[in-house]
Amino acid sequence: MAMRILAIETSCDETGVCILEYTVTGVVSILGNALSSQIEIHAKYGGVFPTLAKRAHAEKMVPLLTQALDEAYLLEVIEEPIDSKDKLDFLNEKESQLKEQLSPFVSFYKKPDIDYIAVTIGPGLEPALWVGVNTARALSSVWNIPVIPINHMEGHVVTAMLSPVESSSSSKVYKVEQPQLPILSLLVSGGHTELVLSESFGKYQKIGQTRDDAVGEAFDKVARMFGLPYPGGPAISKLAKEYRETNPPSAHSGGGGENPFTMPRPMLHSGDYDFSFSGIKTAMLYTIRDLTSANSRELEIYEKQALACAFEDAAIEVLIKKTLKAVEEYGAQTLIIGGGVASNTYLHSELTKLASVKLLFPEPWLATDNAVMIGMAAMTQVISENITTREAETLKADGNLSL
Ligand code: KG4
Ligand code: ZN
Repeated sequence: MAMRILAIETSCDETGVCILEYTVTGVVSILGNALSSQIEIHAKYGGVFPTLAKRAHAEKMVPLLTQALDEAYLLEVIEEPIDSKDKLDFLNEKESQLKEQLSPFVSFYKKPDIDYIAVTIGPGLEPALWVGVNTARALSSVWNIPVIPINHMEGHVVTAMLSPVESSSSSKVYKVEQPQLPILSLLVSGGHTELVLSESFGKYQKIGQTRDDAVGEAFDKVARMFGLPYPGGPAISKLAKEYRETNPPSAHSGGGGENPFTMPRPMLHSGDYDFSFSGIKTAMLYTIRDLTSANSRELEIYEKQALACAFEDAAIEVLIKKTLKAVEEYGAQTLIIGGGVASNTYLHSELTKLASVKLLFPEPWLATDNAVMIGMAAMTQVISENITTREAETLKADGNLSL
């Protein structure tokens, strides 16, 4: 018998809704998937602006719900419209914009044939998270479908365990693999940098995390110093790659040839598994200031490439060395990389060179935030019969939720 989950993600700057289906053959199909990015809204601020994020999530939620359900052939018009307005009254005070769109949606469309609603309850930006949580609450009470609250970080871990089913060229059908335990996950995004150990499936123990900036955030801040828009991670990585290509490594240098710039490797030998990235960021800022303010000039392109390379070398070296040390100490058999920074090609190639355990990266299109990762986390809970459902009224967003 097929089992379906509708999943919602709104923790940061991507609004996502998807419908997943699990069949007895053990494969999960993405029946419908809709995603809207707010990158353009936040680009000029150099980071995500919580109140703007909330508004954009509320604006996009119902159009994306409609799109995902339609794609899954689960959108049917009700013959006799029902009045479920009172079930949405809890939205009056703080989510009036969402209510305005959800009211006609639930009175116009039939309850779809789904078994669970999964929603990200944290960690993330609380105003943004509440839009997803309130949508799940509303739909759960109108349709009488249980909600599975999901930790966003678990979504990043589970996504790396997906392997596309060979026969499907569209890659919309996946098998959720159970890699060898213990699993160590390096979760790296704009909001997080953490090492998480799993000695059994579905159980997570955080063994280290950043004490200040997340690594993606540091990439974004360096991009801003170069006058590049948010999110700047891919652009910085591209500049670094250009430098490495024109300055191949020599015997006595690290990543990028004879780079005139070197950046610090904070906490490399701290003896624990915590990280710190604000020091590298500050070192970059001072170096750029010294170069430009003396002659009041802009950075030359070759300087940007060399600086980006020095920054990426330092940040990635700390990530990799500490991660591999943890792999050894905890005897991890599998290393998972998750989160937006998992799509960094330098991290990918260096880890592939250096790691001696099974390495799992998410497919690039699933590395940054989306609803599929949330649905997959819920799906693995259902499959392993280890789920926690929550009464709609008790659902809460928690910006600081920890694994
Ligand atoms: O997981 P994600 O989509 O959202 C958060 O939960 O933060 O990650 C986005 C972050 C941004 O900071 C972005 O600059 C960074 O991931 N990122 C990268 C790359 N692609 C995305 N950082 C470095 N290199 C990349 N190729
Ligand atoms: Zn994320």
